[in-house]
Amino acid sequence: MAKITIEPVKEHIGARVLVDRADLLDPEVVAACRDALEERGVLVFPELHVSDADQLAFTDALGGRASFMAKAPGGTGDDEDVYKITLDEAFNKHPEYVHGTFFWHVDGVLIDQPPPKATLLSARQLSGTGGQTEFANLYAAYDRLPEQQKADYAGLRVLHTLAAAIRPVVEVVNKENVALLDVAADMEHPLVWTHASGRKSLLIGTQADRITSLPLHIGRALIARLNEHAAQPELVYSHDWRVGDFVIWDNCGVMHRVVPYDDPRRTMHRTSIAGTEMVA
Ligand code: OGA
Ligand code: MN
Repeated sequence: MAKITIEPVKEHIGARVLVDRADLLDPEVVAACRDALEERGVLVFPELHVSDADQLAFTDALGGRASFMAKAPGGTGDDEDVYKITLDEAFNKHPEYVHGTFFWHVDGVLIDQPPPKATLLSARQLSGTGGQTEFANLYAAYDRLPEQQKADYAGLRVLHTLAAAIRPVVEVVNKENVALLDVAADMEHPLVWTHASGRKSLLIGTQADRITSLPLHIGRALIARLNEHAAQPELVYSHDWRVGDFVIWDNCGVMHRVVPYDDPRRTMHRTSIAGTEMVA
């Protein structure tokens, strides 16, 4: 009998994965999840209730953990490879980091190393309202561009900045709030990421600040338009969490954001799979 069932959720994004927690490390299950992640962008394991140890073991089995956020606000606790996302002041003295997740982004684009291949979240406690996580397929967003735009964007480069990441959640961007993200650096990446697989995706989101070869206003308008294009409803899956849900997404081919919440109870445990390729 098959140990794993994978059911697509929407035409362009998402899959529901039915598997027993005890079978997560089975090599067949790991391989099926790796393929599905590439094909579907987001995998939802309903109410799987993984422990931190289960989550770390699965992270390692899929590709090896990245612990790039251990120094970020809230990145403390019993195991520093498990990052607790919460507004609870006992864990997180800097809510700006969580507020930043309310805007479309790709994890780790401001770090000078390959962006994490995938992000894994397990829901430990929920918010009374809000807190759904939305995912937009950046491969499909690229594929759907008119051919002329694909040609026009082929050589464009984008500067992703700390200032752009923090701008939506502070009155003014200054040295103090930029220092909140002290693990990060401004990074230049191509607008179109040609992956080792040969597939192409857009690399956009809120951290994308400007297009290096275009005047500021023209480049920012283009970035805003591409963010809207990528977030069209058919390309987005919105996850309404239940306690124990476990979700993995292809962080290199999907951008994500959270519906705003201010409930300090909401707690997600996050791990990341180390990236294997620089944006190229
Ligand atoms: C993050 C993030 C999503 C969530 O921590 O980078 O995007 O649902 N979190 O909390
Ligand atoms: Mn994120």
